[in-house]
Amino acid sequence: MRVAMIGTGYVGLVSGACFADFGHTVTCIDKDAGKIAALNSGSIPIYEPGLDLLVAQNVKAGRLFFTTDAAEAVRGADAVFIGVGTPSRRGDGYADLTYVYAATEEIAALVEGFTVVVTKSTVPVGTGDEIEAIFKRLRPDADVTVVSNPEFLREGAAIEDFKRPDRVVVGTEEPRAQAVMRELYRPLYLNETPILFTSRRTSELIKYAANAFLALKITYINEMADLCEAVGADVQQVARGIGLDGRIGGKFLNAGPGYGGSCFPKDTIALVRTARDAGTPVELIETTVKVNDERKRAMARKVVKALNGNLKGKTVGVLGLTFKPNTDDMRDAPSLAIIPALQDRGAKVQAFDPEGLHEARELLRGVTFKDDPYDVAEGADVLVIITEWDQFRALDLDRIKLLMNAPVLVDLRNIYKPEDMRARGFAYTSVGRAAV
Ligand code: UDX
Repeated sequence: MRVAMIGTGYVGLVSGACFADFGHTVTCIDKDAGKIAALNSGSIPIYEPGLDLLVAQNVKAGRLFFTTDAAEAVRGADAVFIGVGTPSRRGDGYADLTYVYAATEEIAALVEGFTVVVTKSTVPVGTGDEIEAIFKRLRPDADVTVVSNPEFLREGAAIEDFKRPDRVVVGTEEPRAQAVMRELYRPLYLNETPILFTSRRTSELIKYAANAFLALKITYINEMADLCEAVGADVQQVARGIGLDGRIGGKFLNAGPGYGGSCFPKDTIALVRTARDAGTPVELIETTVKVNDERKRAMARKVVKALNGNLKGKTVGVLGLTFKPNTDDMRDAPSLAIIPALQDRGAKVQAFDPEGLHEARELLRGVTFKDDPYDVAEGADVLVIITEWDQFRALDLDRIKLLMNAPVLVDLRNIYKPEDMRARGFAYTSVGRAAV
């Protein structure tokens, strides 16, 4: 199959490289000439484990191309994917569809022969209808079917998620389009991955319903963590105790500083808007959004408490700035709420992140960025773990203790054990477990 992928952001690039690896011929298209030049010279604009190798192999095999010129690729494509961004619209939280509609108009001017136009971008219910209307208006002659095919890729594990998904959702009832989509995902079909064909609107909603449910699940365990702290229970054991029930499931029950990232925050808000407009508010998700926002700020209070209420003139060392490990993405990262709250209370902040420093420098003011965790510990009155990078799981704690002004650790991801920390002489606070 011949695929044109519009947008070489996170989703477009990972999906394009994976489709090429499935054996299809894929052209990734982006307006950003600098990005395309970089990709053509072998440099990958985002940090995603394994992506550089996958891109290199498929470029070498002659299956993966990068260009700024959509014309040739779209004209010859069996399927044109729209993988552009749908950020939260400033002010009202609706998904901003400017890029989606711009891509649609560009595709409409070019398509030839039967073409399946697929939205990979996360778009509100009904967007496929709008895209179809644009084609009808601009190219009444075109033989096009608009399909929804949401992505469920976790940053840091995106290639694995693409190649071994729990399911693939395809929103179209048109038999020719179903055949193209089935062929595109044929390697997964052979693996017996469930491929769920639904109506387009249902498929669009599945994406939001999935992300909102996961955000709700995380928020639920975060509230249980607060309750555990208040009543002297252990949230990790609660999570295990409930997660072993197959109806609940053990995944996404890690308590922490609140969810962030490029999807959950914007998708929950967009779902809230869609549901209100439809006259059926999703109050559970409205509450989830509110509780999660408050939680990020509340994490700063844990640090204040660990220093007995006074941050004035104190040095706070922060380990981990990205919204989760194995990514350089800082979008809606808890660190962006926690660090300014600490600075407002008079703390000096020094921080390190293995991949996020480049972005963090643009987003965080007044922070001293360090080269490794030990530099961060040096002279710190408290050390705060915000993101659970693997390299923070095996720190030389004796060395950390010597470097710090006082051995105080706030572990917002529960990567250490309270009893170990007590034995090593740290004052230790974590999430949903007794402080020592
Ligand atoms: C998410 C979805 O998982 C993916 O299917 C989707 O389509 C895109 O959005 P991603 O944002 O990359 O992926 O990260 P994910 O691993 O889902 O984590 C999201 C946030 O939740 C992170 O801030 C993470 O730290 C937090 N989280 C996750 C928890 O706090 N606890 C958990 O148990 C799991």
